[in-house]
Amino acid sequence: MASTGARTRAVAAEVVDAVVSGGKSLDAALAAREAQLAPADRSLVRMLAFGVLRHHWRLQESIDALVTRPFRARDRVINALLAVGLYQLTDTRIPDHAAVSQTVEAARVLRRPKLAGVINACLRRYRREHLAAAEPRSEAARWNHPDWLIAKLREDWPADAEAILAANNAQAPMWLRANAARGDAAACRDRLAAAGIAADLLDGVPDALRLAEPHAVTDLPGFADGALSVQDAAAQIAGRWLMAHAPRRVLDACAAPGGKSGHLLELGGAGFDLTALDHDAVRLERVRENHERIGLDATIVCGDASKPGEWWDKEPFDAILLDAPCSATGVIRRHPDIKLLRRADDIDELSALQGRILAALWPLLRPGGRLLYATCSVLAAENEGVAGRFLESESAAEEDAVLPNNNIRDVMRRKACGYQVLPGTAGMDGFYYACLVKKVSRSTR
Ligand SMILES: C[S@@+](CC[C@H](N)C(=O)[O-])C[C@H]1O[C@@H](n2cnc3c(N)ncnc32)[C@H](O)[C@@H]1O
Repeated sequence: MASTGARTRAVAAEVVDAVVSGGKSLDAALAAREAQLAPADRSLVRMLAFGVLRHHWRLQESIDALVTRPFRARDRVINALLAVGLYQLTDTRIPDHAAVSQTVEAARVLRRPKLAGVINACLRRYRREHLAAAEPRSEAARWNHPDWLIAKLREDWPADAEAILAANNAQAPMWLRANAARGDAAACRDRLAAAGIAADLLDGVPDALRLAEPHAVTDLPGFADGALSVQDAAAQIAGRWLMAHAPRRVLDACAAPGGKSGHLLELGGAGFDLTALDHDAVRLERVRENHERIGLDATIVCGDASKPGEWWDKEPFDAILLDAPCSATGVIRRHPDIKLLRRADDIDELSALQGRILAALWPLLRPGGRLLYATCSVLAAENEGVAGRFLESESAAEEDAVLPNNNIRDVMRRKACGYQVLPGTAGMDGFYYACLVKKVSRSTR
């Protein structure tokens, strides 16, 4: 019977391989395999899988230098296992001897006993020759990003690209949102402090609390009863911004899993009428669960935001949140698999889709109403590219550049239109926002 340590490393390698070779998302790969493990071992698998994917290019460069020829296609999981082994030596406090012996044993768990010797030889040589100290040879290995994304970031953010690349490889803090319908963030901070959990507030994002250390949600007083939710502070800017003009009938057009729609409900008060739309029925279940936990209701609709004729009841909305499907290049620190799964070609396709959804939703907005266009991307093509093109093509649209709170001026970068939060700024994820207002024409005045 293999040791728990070896089984844990074998599962971590399978998870990494499912992303790198199988093209699966990290969340899906973890969900499929974590069930085989005791809860106590899951955090080690997560730590290893996240870490290896964060440092994929550097680790692969080391592997390429260590092995005389690449592993055969059917043994790719051993390549992933070797990455898991190297990562333990370079980036964790796991003692080297334990890292090596458990990783070698994991090759047997993965039914590749003949390759255990290769893993052993590579890990020992890596230590003996101090190869961890070698300078990365390629840009990809230096920044642990694919070449196309490094180039795009340098093009869009010439002065900030390296800070963005570094922030993408850092661990994200855990942010909470206080339910404004139940009390303010300061009261939540006191309740957390009484449970021994330290948290800070963020000027300009009034419902946000940043935990000093991550905690399981089950340990957070107020989570189960909906007084608190988990949500990055940058994502919380959406709710306050859209609600600044107290709209009553609101559409959240890409709502799943329901983070921002939950915030809108908490801020909406009595008589607030929210439609939460998404085209993914499975993800809409998460919206239902999230709303149920906070004890507030929206009309949940499964439909395609680019085809409102199929689901809209012809009643205009006072405000629309379009949190568009995007490359998610602003949240790489939480989803390092994005660096492996996204392709350069995706960006043009995504910006075309974003433009289509934006144009389709615009007629649903009443004159004088606001549409907040949001992405968790840092790429101009999906952000000011989409919003700017729309503003040029739609004469009834203009930008409302007034921020919901003056205190966030310093963390939001002004773009040709809209604003960008860069990942890592004040501990936040990367997010883009552009607020578009529909002009009131003489005939509708
Ligand atoms: C960035 S996520 C939204 C996150 C959500 N607003 C939140 O805060 O929890 C984008 C969502 O858009 C949905 N989506 C993508 N294309 C869509 C379409 N054509 N119509 C409706 N929803 C779509 C996806 O299923 C996904 O749930």
